[in-house]
Order: sequence, then structure tokens, then C-alpha cells
Amino acid sequence: MANTIPSLTSRPAWKALEAHYQTLRDVHLRRLFADDPGRGESLTAEAVGVVLDYSKNRITGDTLDLLVRLAEDCGLRGRIDAMFRGERINETEGRAVLHVALRMPKGSSVELDGVNVVTQVHTVLDRMAEFCTKVRSGAWKGHTGKRIRAVVNVGIGGSDLGPVMAYEALRHYSDRNMIFRFVSNIDGTDFVEAVRDLNPAETLFIISSKTFTTLETMTNGHSAREWLLAGLGGDVKAVAKHCVAVSTNASEVAKFGIDPANMFEFWDWVGGRYSMDSAIGLSTMLAVGPEQFRSMLSGFHQMDEHFRTAPFRRNLPALMGLLAVWNGDFFGADTAAVLPYDQYLKRFPAYLQQLTMESNGKHVTLEGAKTTYQTGAVFWGEPGTNGQHSFYQLIHQGTKLIPCDFIACMKPLNPLGRHHDLLIANVFAQSEALAFGKTAEEVRGEGTAERLVPHRVFEGNRPSNTILLERLTPEALGKLVALYEHSVFTQGAVWGINCFDQWGVELGKALAQRIVPELERAEAPAPAHDSSTNHLIRRYRAAKTS
Ligand code: F6P
Repeated sequence: MANTIPSLTSRPAWKALEAHYQTLRDVHLRRLFADDPGRGESLTAEAVGVVLDYSKNRITGDTLDLLVRLAEDCGLRGRIDAMFRGERINETEGRAVLHVALRMPKGSSVELDGVNVVTQVHTVLDRMAEFCTKVRSGAWKGHTGKRIRAVVNVGIGGSDLGPVMAYEALRHYSDRNMIFRFVSNIDGTDFVEAVRDLNPAETLFIISSKTFTTLETMTNGHSAREWLLAGLGGDVKAVAKHCVAVSTNASEVAKFGIDPANMFEFWDWVGGRYSMDSAIGLSTMLAVGPEQFRSMLSGFHQMDEHFRTAPFRRNLPALMGLLAVWNGDFFGADTAAVLPYDQYLKRFPAYLQQLTMESNGKHVTLEGAKTTYQTGAVFWGEPGTNGQHSFYQLIHQGTKLIPCDFIACMKPLNPLGRHHDLLIANVFAQSEALAFGKTAEEVRGEGTAERLVPHRVFEGNRPSNTILLERLTPEALGKLVALYEHSVFTQGAVWGINCFDQWGVELGKALAQRIVPELERAEAPAPAHDSSTNHLIRRYRAAKTS
């Protein structure tokens, strides 16, 4: 059948952006700021308490008009409405994409196959709250009658990265009498180190897996079961008091041996990387309590509503997504750095890697055609100011263009002497240095020896966004995560790709299953892979028996 959807690069708005890029590619941010003294303020958008200063991108008002036109041409508005209506926009898996329903207030309604999913969401949230209150108060007793002091979340990917990130981000609000650990890697070291100082009688495992078939989580889950049984005298009844599950797959949970009464459900319309606000957030709720968890959900919802209703020109996630397209597809930026200047957000870059790269690491469109343009950037980052003393050199003076997102909170959670002023001074200084650099004249003016001048020149003209939050509260975290979720969605809508499947991770999983018996069974036949893989397998087998 003929493909009737015009390819992205043949759209008039794209062509106009290509022509516009030619007029802007050699214009320096110094010039753009000099020409418009009000640029810093006019290219700042603010909504639901989040400030996005995008003025240090290489854009003009015309760029924004064209990017908005591109979004409209690509049907971004229709895609947003389809998502919120519960249409099956994850076409390759035939699923709706309704993480936005996870944070809708009680009484809202989104119907999927005749069922109001918001009612389902709140039923589970209420169960989670009841359970968390029992555990946090000590009313929930372990097998030997002791209260729970340690919680270990066992999960991987979306069933780990969100919970870890949120636990770290909201540590300020967490119950300091409880210990939280996260086990994800199939490397036994992860499990062994996580439990080595824990008492089984006081430990609760949350086995978190959407599918409840993921090799890493099932293997770690079984090790958890054995560890509990070994430490609690071998009575299988102990498991019910020390193991709960979070999953969409009730039958696999039951097969694993967890009482369905101890299972917290979510649904196939929640993607793994979009699930930290579902029951996958059970460890978060245990750490900060139901009220703070609900406040995080409210933050998500406020950003959702902003994304759904605001005109693109003032729509924070849409602007961020469109700027990512501009920097990636026109300026050729292959990577993007996310630089939170808040120690509590130290795992935010790792979390964003899955959100952005598993979502937009696609090279075919929804129609199955190979894209003729770049899609998702490589996301990476570290909390500031640590990164400054590590990789910022390359961002400032290297040969690659790396757009940066600086994230900072105006008010510290731990005021300590001058620390916060110094921290924030660094955020502002970095984006200033990246944008404006230092010219040869300025370097010479400092009395620098001529031979050193080229080394000390900063070209500048490196784009960045600055995202400001008032304070890192649960609500603010919800807003921040939703901001990125919808920015990813905006990019995917422009590129015409499916942000919600992840077929690319399947091949490695399948091949690993084929190799496992070749490593485990002494009598396994000679491996029949390529010569490199055969050789690696032979070496491992030899090492195992030596
Ligand atoms: O690695 C792919 C993936 O399917 C992710 O999308 C998902 O978050 C992760 O594995 C874990 O899956 P599950 O929650 O089903 O164990």
C-alpha cells in the first residue's frame, strides 16, 4: 500500500527550518543577546512553578515559529489528545499509553475498553497506602514478630531506575529509621552486597517486574527467597510476611509463590520507563509515606495538564522537545547532557537515560519506513559541580556540540553556610561560559602570552537550557519527571516514531538464553556461534573448570 503520510523531511515546515538554519548556523549567541537586550526574559517560559530559560539556545523568534509549525504539521496536538483519550498509540504492541492516568485525581475518568482506569488506579493507590502505613508504623510484623526495618526493591530497568532515582531525590522526606536498598544487576554481587548487613527477620523484599518474567529480577527474586528461608528457619510461610510483588502478571506472581493478596497491580498501558508513579513506586511510598507520594502525583498531574492544554509556544515540554529536535537534527548534536545541580538528583541522569533512549532510540517510523534523519540523542550526565571537574572541558572546548540541561533548585533543603549560593553561582556561570565563551581579544587583554591564546579561547555558542524549581519537594519531582516524559513524547511525535515499544532489547535477551546452557552444562556440545563468540565461550568454560 502506498505510504500517504509525507516524510518528515519533505514537510514544508522542515524545509523552512533547513533554510532558516543556513541563516543562523554561523550566528553567535553573543550577537543574539546583543541584538535583543530582553532575550533572557522573553525566551523564558514558566508554568506550574517550573521555570525554563531556553534563551541560550541558538534560536530566534522565527525558529520558534517554525518549530511550532513543524509540531502542528506533525500532528503533535492530535497525538497528545489521543494519548490522554487512551487510544492505542503504542501501535506495535497494540497498547494504550496512559501513564497520565496514574496521576489523575480521584473522580477523573479515562475509559479503556469500557473500564474507568482512574478508578482502578486509586483502588491500588489506596491498597498501597494501607500497606505502607502498616509497615511504616510497625503494625506489619515479620515472620518472627519483628517490625520491618529494611526494604529491598528487586527490579531492573523501569522497575528499578525510577524507584532508585525517586528514593534518592526524596531522601530528605524519607523515614530515616528504615533502610532502602535496590537490587537490579544479575551479577550476584549486587544481591550479596545489598543484603550482607541486613537481618532477614526485619527485611521486606518488593519483587518489582511488569512482566514477572525478566531474567535478572526472577533470578534475584529467587535468591531473595532462599536468603529469607535460610535466615528464617526454612518455613515457607515466612515468605508471605517478607515478600510482596508489583506486577501486571498475577499468574506468574502466584507461580513464584507470592500470595496474590500481597501483589500490587499495574497495567499493560503503563510502560516500564513510565511506571515510577504506579505501584512500581511502592518503595518510594514506603520511604516517604502515602501523603508525600500523593503530592508527587499531583506534581505529575499539574505538568500533564499544562502539556495537554498550553499553546506550544508557552508549553514547557513541547518547547524542550522541539529544541531537542532543532539541536539534534539541524545542528547535528548527537548527545545531550543533563546536569542537575542538586545532590539529591544524582540518579536523575541514569533514570533519564532509560526514559529518553529506550523511548526514542528508534530508526523506523510508525509506518515502518527507515528514518532519513537522526532521532533520539545519547543522554548522559552527572550532578554538578562534580561534572565540572571531569567532562565539562570537552563541552567547553571540545569539537562536539553538546546541548546541556542545567537543573537547579532556588531553595536548598539543607542550608549550610555559603554552600547554596556557591552551588547556584556555578550553574549560572557554566551556562554563561558555554554561551558566551571568551574571545582572543579578551584573552589577550588579560595579558596572556600569545602562544597560549588559542588554548585559552572559549568559542562559546554552546546551547543550554536552565530549569529552575523552587525547592526539591515530591511535587516538584513529579513536575520535573513529567516535563521530560512529555518532551520525549514531543520529539517522538515529530520524528513519527513509537516512543513506547523497545524491541531493540529483545535480541540480546534471546541470545543470552541460548548461551546459558552452553556455560552451565559440562556436557554441552561445542558452541556453534561465530568464531569470536565460540572462542569466548570456550575460554569461560576452561576458566570454570581450571
Ligand atoms: O529491558 C527492557 C525492559 O522491558 C524495560 O523496558 C523494562 O523497564 C525492563 O525491561 C524491566 O521489565 P520488567 O518490569 O517486566 O521486569
